[in-house]
Amino acid sequence: MIAANWKLHHTAETGAALARGVVDEVLPWLGERGGAEAVRVVLCPPFTALHAVAAALAGSPLDLGAQDVFWEDWGAYTGEVSAPMLVAAGCRYVIVGHSERRHLLGETDEAVARKARAAAGHGLVPIVCVGETLAQREAGRTEQVVLGQLAPVAESLVAGGGPPLVAIAYEPVWAIGTGRPARGADAQAVAAAIRDRLVAAWGDAGASVPVLYGGSVKPENAAEFLRQPDIDGALVGGASLDPAAFAGVVRAVDDTEGEA
Ligand code: 13P
Repeated sequence: MIAANWKLHHTAETGAALARGVVDEVLPWLGERGGAEAVRVVLCPPFTALHAVAAALAGSPLDLGAQDVFWEDWGAYTGEVSAPMLVAAGCRYVIVGHSERRHLLGETDEAVARKARAAAGHGLVPIVCVGETLAQREAGRTEQVVLGQLAPVAESLVAGGGPPLVAIAYEPVWAIGTGRPARGADAQAVAAAIRDRLVAAWGDAGASVPVLYGGSVKPENAAEFLRQPDIDGALVGGASLDPAAFAGVVRAVDDTEGEA
């Protein structure tokens, strides 16, 4: 899975143009690979561009996602947007617990777990973001922090036989928007710890949960992450705003074949 997090960029009009550009770049390659089953490509624009981007993606195998969701469905919650609203707008995915929301807006692990649960309850796949700060990494606390963030999610999403409806994005905070990605081996070590925790919580179903890496992913470095055994995709910020660069990340899947 390669997911684009556009963050606070693009209106409905410019977002639809970007989405059309991505479709043009990615579609021929996806077609050769057998379509969306080969690689899930997900675009996550701001709320106000969801409908326009949904229209731009209509008939293509690319999927639509949002960048946040509230845990209640309806009610007196000024400014919030709920899972049923996102489903009606055409979303299949929603990012929750991005570090920018945790750090700038004070989202707690428990709030993130409630959001993930609300999304999954409506058939939306929550892409739950976890990741340590530089200070936490330097203090040797990376695994403790990441697994601590994951725990309420693992507890609140109960695997009912099939694979739990969730993806996890490991995004070290110090690698986001800095041009300084993690090393592949370091990202793999954290992804493996996440995988172990998911399997402990959900058994075999935990093994099939997609674990993504995010943080300064570019066409030039994407294969280094995608070839790691416990990394199943990427969550892309800056590079997702340029159709050619984002398509380059998607096509990096080709450079990982037989190397996992
Ligand atoms: P960058 O790719 O710009 O580092 O952002 C990563 C990210 O936060 C994706 O959610």
